[in-house]
Amino acid sequence: MSSESVPSPRPATKSVIPVAGMGTRFLPATKAVPKELLPVVDRPALQYIVEEAARAGVGEVLMVTGRNKGSIEDHFDRTPELETALEAKGDQGRLDAVHESTDVAQVFFVRQGEAKGLGHAVLQAEAFVGDEPFAVLLGDDIIDARDHLLEQMLAVQAEHGGAVIALLDVGADNISKYGAVAVEEAKVSGDAAGDEVFRVTGMVEKPPADEAPSTLAIIGRYVLPPEVFPAIRDTPPGRGGEIQLTDALLKLVEDGMPVHGVVFSGRRYDTGDKLDYLKAVVRLAVEREDLGPAFGPWLRDFVADLPAEGASPA
Ligand code: G1P
Repeated sequence: MSSESVPSPRPATKSVIPVAGMGTRFLPATKAVPKELLPVVDRPALQYIVEEAARAGVGEVLMVTGRNKGSIEDHFDRTPELETALEAKGDQGRLDAVHESTDVAQVFFVRQGEAKGLGHAVLQAEAFVGDEPFAVLLGDDIIDARDHLLEQMLAVQAEHGGAVIALLDVGADNISKYGAVAVEEAKVSGDAAGDEVFRVTGMVEKPPADEAPSTLAIIGRYVLPPEVFPAIRDTPPGRGGEIQLTDALLKLVEDGMPVHGVVFSGRRYDTGDKLDYLKAVVRLAVEREDLGPAFGPWLRDFVADLPAEGASPA
């Protein structure tokens, strides 16, 4: 393949959301409830992700699920009994909330079968995706609805072809938790005030900090070309014995395919671990028109009364 492959003439319309992970970081809550359905304020984390895909125009969504994830299908299905009951009560507000999850996107499901890694999960989408570029959204990162990361990534893919990944500078202390990338020094577009775009020259999955090519981490948004599927098939198990998407994307780089990184400068809410999840709930609740005006002042008082670090609570 030439390094300047012809951009795909067809815009992406589909997206893939892997949801087969076991959610061990949230045990015991995730014994019976998929981590993707844990509420962030009053809607499941996963619903924010599906809404983002729909907003960006890739609302034909395939969820790659696993065992014990049946309630995810229920969440995106109609609930006639509940709807009839709310209708009878004339409770339009709650009825609208119930409809949000079914009306937002067209959701399909496929089972991963075995949990063999993110690359393997994405491979399950091959028949669904066909021969078009597509988006992949991972559930741990919620991107603020006022920011337009995925739209921008889709535009970069439409212009340059190849693959586009979302990047964030997470610093040396955190880089070992992510896929880390090397980029060309000169940016392709963008300005320091907005999202800058760089050509990616290398990547490695969860490297020790002293071996990371940079502190730029892959966050959970990708726009991928269909060529990623054969690349995944050719990818042997990597870190953790799993088939890593990062390793397959490195293959595309090595084949000369354009792979670009968009360095996100907007608001991201990480729901991947307990501390970040708590922060995400608080930040999103403060921003909400219906809750913020009451929650914000309470939070200010609460924080003012917190004992200083090291002091024991009253
Ligand atoms: C996955 C990817 C990793 C990426 C991360 C973003 O890792 O393998 O490259 O940086 O998502 O959240 P996971 O968090 O599933 O272990």
